[in-house]
Amino acid sequence: MSEFLLQSDIEEIATALGDKAQAFAGKTVMLTGGRGFLGRYFTEVFVRLNATVLDKPCKVICLDNLITAGDEGAKITEVENITFREHDVIQPLDWEDDLDFIIHAAGIASPYYYRKYPLETLEVAITGTRNMLELAQRHNARISFFSSSEIYGDPDAAHVPTSESFRGNVAAQGPRACYDESKRVGETLCYIFHENHGLATNTIRPFNVFGPGMQETDYRVMPNFANRIKGGRPLNVYGSGNQTRTFCYITDAMNGFLRVIAAGVPGEAYNIGNPKPEITMLDLVQGMEKASGGKLDYNVIEYPDSYPADEPLRRCPDITKARRQIGYEPSVDLNDGLKRFLGWADTVYTGEA
Ligand SMILES: NC(=O)c1ccc[n+]([C@@H]2O[C@H](COP(=O)([O-])OP(=O)(O)OC[C@H]3O[C@@H](n4cnc5c(N)ncnc54)[C@H](O)[C@@H]3O)[C@@H](O)[C@H]2O)c1
Repeated sequence: MSEFLLQSDIEEIATALGDKAQAFAGKTVMLTGGRGFLGRYFTEVFVRLNATVLDKPCKVICLDNLITAGDEGAKITEVENITFREHDVIQPLDWEDDLDFIIHAAGIASPYYYRKYPLETLEVAITGTRNMLELAQRHNARISFFSSSEIYGDPDAAHVPTSESFRGNVAAQGPRACYDESKRVGETLCYIFHENHGLATNTIRPFNVFGPGMQETDYRVMPNFANRIKGGRPLNVYGSGNQTRTFCYITDAMNGFLRVIAAGVPGEAYNIGNPKPEITMLDLVQGMEKASGGKLDYNVIEYPDSYPADEPLRRCPDITKARRQIGYEPSVDLNDGLKRFLGWADTVYTGEA
């Protein structure tokens, strides 16, 4: 068990999954990006399910090339039924043993890192996804690909909240294109393998997940603000501060992800996020003030060179499909999620990133 994550959150995820968890009993799961933010949650949840509810344990093989896994990701402790292999998914993988599920969560997810590694970002979502689809086909395994809400680009007001049928308004050239466009191609690959080869593929489109376990050097807005709060420094709001997002606490997101992986309708894409509230980055500063119980100074500044401008103006999921098809319902409100996250960050972050 990792001391880095809140064990009460892991228990909450395992409990919320209910009898859907039995889909993993006695099965083998390959988890790519297994040492990243979401990957470490998956690992801990499977450890918990094995210890508590599954009649037969689920075996998990974590793959990660550690490119952005950071110090925490690099601390590998193998426990019974959970193994780790350092592997770059851009390279094919020889795997002859059993395989029932692939969770393809490897990716370069933070805008700071995809600005730094644009080609690696593109390759993991395209070549890496193709390699995982071919592996799934050889074993007739179910495969879930982690795409992103970023595939919608900048939706017009009529398409916010955004449903899965919105086709996107995305730039093929620009600082974010390596991420957005490669995730779109990854989705197209899933579509081809489902349509032409009958493979049970699902695409997951997460909308800004946050929670304990995010690395301080991740530079997405939540760890960035939390780091500066810890260091007693003013928060830096990029651009106008009027761009909106919705934020989904990790326990809700993991519940949605695992429901898709276990029981999503083959071939379908699912938005997983929390549609309420849709807030501006300036509202988020206020939300953090409320959750941390203290006044916070902030500056509204230009995008730094290390962070890609051209951000979508609005981002809010329509989760009707996930509600109806897999019984997904987020339940942690923003204030509660922020309190849990900031409380954790206060004990773990240095305030110096
Ligand atoms: N967390 C979110 O809010 C969010 C939102 C949208 C999409 N996603 C997607 O979900 C997935 C997981 O996100 P996360 O927040 O855990 O990201 P993360 O950056 O914390 O973890 C991703 C992991 O993938 C690994 N990786 C990258 N390239 C690899 C390669 N070629 N081979 C093997 N491993 C590789 C990294 O080392 C890292 O450990 C990503 O694909 C991301 O794009 C996440």
